[in-house]
Amino acid sequence: MPFDNVKLNDGHEIPAIGFGTGSALYGKDARDYVVQAVETGFSHVDTAQIYRNEDSVGEAIRDTGLSRKELFVTTKYGSGPIQETVRESLTKLGLEYVNLYLIHFPTAIENDVEGGWREFEKIKEDGLAKSIGVSNFNVEQLERLVKIAKVKPAVNQIRFHPYNYAEHRSLLEYSAKHGIVTEAYGSLAPITSLPGGPVDAPVNAAAKRLGITPTQAILLWVRAKGAVIVTSVPPIPLSPSPQSLILKSRTSRSEQHLKEYLAVADLPSLTSEEVAAIDEAGAQGPPKKLRQKIWHAVGTLAATAAVYTLVSLLRKAGASAAL
Ligand SMILES: NC(=O)c1ccc[n+]([C@@H]2O[C@H](COP(=O)([O-])OP(=O)(O)OC[C@H]3O[C@@H](n4cnc5c(N)ncnc54)[C@H](OP(=O)(O)O)[C@@H]3O)[C@@H](O)[C@H]2O)c1
Repeated sequence: MPFDNVKLNDGHEIPAIGFGTGSALYGKDARDYVVQAVETGFSHVDTAQIYRNEDSVGEAIRDTGLSRKELFVTTKYGSGPIQETVRESLTKLGLEYVNLYLIHFPTAIENDVEGGWREFEKIKEDGLAKSIGVSNFNVEQLERLVKIAKVKPAVNQIRFHPYNYAEHRSLLEYSAKHGIVTEAYGSLAPITSLPGGPVDAPVNAAAKRLGITPTQAILLWVRAKGAVIVTSVPPIPLSPSPQSLILKSRTSRSEQHLKEYLAVADLPSLTSEEVAAIDEAGAQGPPKKLRQKIWHAVGTLAATAAVYTLVSLLRKAGASAAL
């Protein structure tokens, strides 16, 4: 059974899992990946102006042979005149409309929030996007927008995983109050970029109880939080094997992951105790070693900057003395 659709505050619906063409597919030809995702069962594709692959996403959409109504397509505005930019994206995608058009990050309209959002409302009014929303907005930025909006944003797409849940709690509550659906990207961080931390134990325990993978347990946690999942697969791995073998291994590995993600639709929910255990473990923060590494890097950078500034000041002082 496929994932359910989630109702948006403008009456439209969004499939509860989407295939993303950012991150690992940034700037790459995404055609084969999107075709594979759709053939495996995804009906929701997420791209963006700045991913520089809308044209290959469009090619994939045509090549799947699906009717427009069978696919949910999101793209995002990054920069440039808004009306021209959305039309450029539509041309690249080969579509008359996208299902969802997002402001990719708050700075994209920071000089004129009201003017920017009016342009977005016009895009919806003109039928170029069925729904409009934002991405990477915090509570204050959403509040500013909601205050002036005639059409409230339908979604806020954010990086969302157990290690930043505590930080995002008020954002999720504010969004729910205004009917703004949270879309979650980067949710697999406890496996991909922050492994070995406190979240592993409760995730593994839930996975063991249900006989599923830790990846699926995390996606169940995201589902328990009421968020729409946006996930992806990696591009062709660097490997010394011949091209055909690389492609074959990439294709089957991606297919495996895609099936693993989609199978979450049919899994039973985590218990409230399991969700709470993941929340609590996440609130302890990511693995210490990684935090130490980050702090070390920040410390080294700050020290380098301080030395550089001191040397410049001494040089300047020396130069003025010489004058
Ligand atoms: N709005 C924004 O600003 C923004 C920012 C970033 C991303 N996004 C969107 O969100 C999409 C997904 O982002 P994401 O890549 O951060 O998603 P993600 O769901 O956190 O990570 C997906 C990656 O997880 C890896 N993975 C899955 N299961 C695994 C396992 N068992 N072990 C190890 N690795 C595993 C896969 O790589 P392997 O197969 O190599 O393991 C895959 O590439 C993007 O494509 C983009 O559309 C939006």
